[in-house]
Amino acid sequence: MEDLDPTYIQAPEHRSDSNFIPNQPEEIPVIDLSRLDDPKDVQNVISEIGDACEKWGFFQVINHGVPSDARQRVEKTVKMFFDLPMEEKIKVKRDEVNPVGYHDGEHTKNVKDWKEVFDIYFKDPMVIPSSTAPEDEGLRLVYNKWPQSPSDFREACEVYARHAEKLAFKLLELISLSLGLPKERFHDYFKEQMSFFRINRYPPCPRPDLALGVGHHKDADVISLLAQDEVGGLQVSRRSDGVWFPIRPVPNALVINIGNCMEIWTNDKYWSAEHRVVVNTTRERYSIPFFLLPSHDVEVKPLEEIVSPENPPRYKGYKWGKFYVSRNRSDFRKLEIENIQIDDFKVNT
Ligand code: OGA
Ligand code: NI
Repeated sequence: MEDLDPTYIQAPEHRSDSNFIPNQPEEIPVIDLSRLDDPKDVQNVISEIGDACEKWGFFQVINHGVPSDARQRVEKTVKMFFDLPMEEKIKVKRDEVNPVGYHDGEHTKNVKDWKEVFDIYFKDPMVIPSSTAPEDEGLRLVYNKWPQSPSDFREACEVYARHAEKLAFKLLELISLSLGLPKERFHDYFKEQMSFFRINRYPPCPRPDLALGVGHHKDADVISLLAQDEVGGLQVSRRSDGVWFPIRPVPNALVINIGNCMEIWTNDKYWSAEHRVVVNTTRERYSIPFFLLPSHDVEVKPLEEIVSPENPPRYKGYKWGKFYVSRNRSDFRKLEIENIQIDDFKVNT
């Protein structure tokens, strides 16, 4: 067996063979959004989405309106980029000033992930707080980095991102309706949205029993829309008992999951599930998540319409932008302490 750099080694309880049922009897729902064209079916689709958000925090959508040629174009061009020599890729390396672009050493929960990534802000430039200090109201602009080659990298990414964002808002409306709220309940939170999208490349790994492509984590965003290729490896932890289930690759589908912001807005009615990526010894894998993030000044706290004397708020509020910059600081290197987590904002009961 080949040696693995120790920075990639997961603690035994987090390795991929832990607590895993390969032939699960239960499937994460796949929802056909073309059913929304049939007025008689709309309410069913909305309730299926609501049920999936509650039970799994994950579902897949098909016939979702993101054109497959836009997706294929981005898949092709990013593969050409990742195949370039390292000295080319690090010309667009992410840094602490503009934390986007190429990166190959991300830590999730202080263990290194077996992957390379390229991050792109949806809005360019994007507005973020200039520091983590709560009393500092300063803001700054951050800019995307684009490689010179392949020449259509930028356009392919921008076209895909516009389609993904459109779908993200459609899903947000459906989620809002599933909660019995007005369709546009959440829209004001996105005036200066901090959404970004990421291209993940998971190379073949000599020790998939010890390392993970992405360690177990919850997404910090509102919702994520992920395009995965046919290789597979994404797993989700079931809400009821924490058992890991694979998310089966479905051609042209997008995997949708609830992030921490939505979990907090709904006071834990909707679930932000732990998920992780298992790697393998022979095949590289690509995935493209679009993370829908609110504006920096949005206070993330349980919605007034949802809390009541019987359902008191389970979280204190926090400013989204401050959380983001605190969180991002620790992605660059191993910290001595555990990274900031949403549970830090739980109300003690
Ligand atoms: C992520 C993530 C899953 C995947 O990037 O946050 O969970 O399948 N990715 O790549
Ligand atoms: Ni994730």
